[in-house]
Amino acid sequence: MRKRLVIGNWKMNMLKKEALELAQRLSELLSHLNQVDIVVAPPYTSLDVVYKVIHKTNIQLAGQNVFWEPSGAFTGEISPYMLIEAGCKWVIIGHSERRDILGEDDNMVERKIKASINAGLIPILCVGEKLDEREKGYTMKVIKSQIEKGLKNLNLADPNSIAIAYEPVWAIGTGKNATPEEAEAVHGFVRETLRKIFNGIADNIRILYGGSVTPENIKGLISSPDIDGALIGGASLRAESFAKIARLIGGMPHWT
Ligand code: 13P
Repeated sequence: MRKRLVIGNWKMNMLKKEALELAQRLSELLSHLNQVDIVVAPPYTSLDVVYKVIHKTNIQLAGQNVFWEPSGAFTGEISPYMLIEAGCKWVIIGHSERRDILGEDDNMVERKIKASINAGLIPILCVGEKLDEREKGYTMKVIKSQIEKGLKNLNLADPNSIAIAYEPVWAIGTGKNATPEEAEAVHGFVRETLRKIFNGIADNIRILYGGSVTPENIKGLISSPDIDGALIGGASLRAESFAKIARLIGGMPHWT
């Protein structure tokens, strides 16, 4: 049985004061929600202030990115150990914004995944096709390649030591989410791909959907068998909407 998981990716938003207020409000709204694992990923500069608010609650902390070396002359980078020291249990890796804007490739993603797992962080590997790739019928090919390359030579015994996020690039920040049927088709394929890589544990690895998730569309998505939760951008910047999504993912009655 896979426990559902919801992650708020705050991206490059929230100065410290705003981050503090959002974390405080989330703690109030979500402290009793144990049916779902709840994670927030603030920018690096707010990790500390958010950790102080959430560390005694059920809300966990994630980094939005990481570098693969433990320390050294890598100006501007952050190591897995630095994230752990800041209170992180999780780290988002290979987000399409990093792939497309910052030039991150599958080889870098693979190194980041390995370094994070070795340090004791749980990576969330992001995969997803662009609009033109979908239109040409390449969706599954792109997803397969990103997963196989990102997880190359990785031996895992514990399914909870990683999560996958399927985020169709055309759905991110556009208000145009994949339908539950479109998302489930890819999630089922991700699960098949994981089975070929990890055999037994693949059925217990959590696969999240991301891309314009809102309180209005999450119910349809989460009722699909291979969608185990969501990675949320815009709607995670408002406490009420993130909490509402988290409650719906956790199967709680609708928020009033
Ligand atoms: P939006 O929810 O804003 O579409 O962003 C999704 C995302 O990129 C989460 O990582």
